[in-house]
Amino acid sequence: MPGALPQAREAAASRGGTFASAPMKTSEIHSRLKAATAEMHARLEQQLDLLRDDLTLCDYVGLLERFYGVYEPFERMAEPMLKRVPGIEFERRKKTELLAADLLHLGASPVGLALLPRLPFTVPEQPEQLLGWLYVLEGATLGGQILARHFATRLPLSAGCGLRFFTAYGEETATMWRRLLEVLAVHGQTEVAARLMVDSAVSAFARLLDWFVAGSYSLDLSAA
Ligand code: HEM
Repeated sequence: MPGALPQAREAAASRGGTFASAPMKTSEIHSRLKAATAEMHARLEQQLDLLRDDLTLCDYVGLLERFYGVYEPFERMAEPMLKRVPGIEFERRKKTELLAADLLHLGASPVGLALLPRLPFTVPEQPEQLLGWLYVLEGATLGGQILARHFATRLPLSAGCGLRFFTAYGEETATMWRRLLEVLAVHGQTEVAARLMVDSAVSAFARLLDWFVAGSYSLDLSAA
């Protein structure tokens, strides 16, 4: 929906949301990550078109299923390497349980969750590659704040009931983002590391674009 997002950003700012918080110092690696992925982020936003007025609960469930198919295998694959990265707070950042709780609340069964399609991941050689992915997946919590408010006004959802993923950090969203950027800045100081991170973030967005295009919004999990 053209024009909806700038309005949503302004609305978030006026309510004291993430986008009203004091501007944070942008590290070089953050600038590079943001610049390299900005166009793909815009395409993904456009492709998902989540601020449209006719989004149904069925669309929403399909969306959560697609997110589940990304976060679950990513977190399983990345955990051994990422939990050793100082300051990353990986345990706190995991979203699989939140997505599962939302889907179960909306009628999915545990068997249905187990059968959901997953994005295949292979363990990369360097932690910086996982940090590039984490930049992308954690960035989704920023848009999540706007989206959660939008969904809550149109669908029978609230923070504890079906919106746990999109409200993952609540008031802590800006803080969690700032702390992630600090860790990325520490790890992105050499050109080799920075390039690994940026390439990985670009390829993460490319894979997400494909993944969401291929996604079905009408799987009925309760029957599984
Ligand atoms: C799979 C879906 C998505 C992913 C992976 C994603 C990823 C990201 C990333 C990485 C950032 C950080 C940019 C930075 O470095 O500052 C970000 C920021 C943001 N995203 Fe998304 N995003 C997704 C969907 C959306 C959607 C659908 C919206 C629409 C509301 C959205 C709105 C925003 C906003 C408002 C920001 C804050 C930064 C800004 O003002 O430009 N995102 N997102």
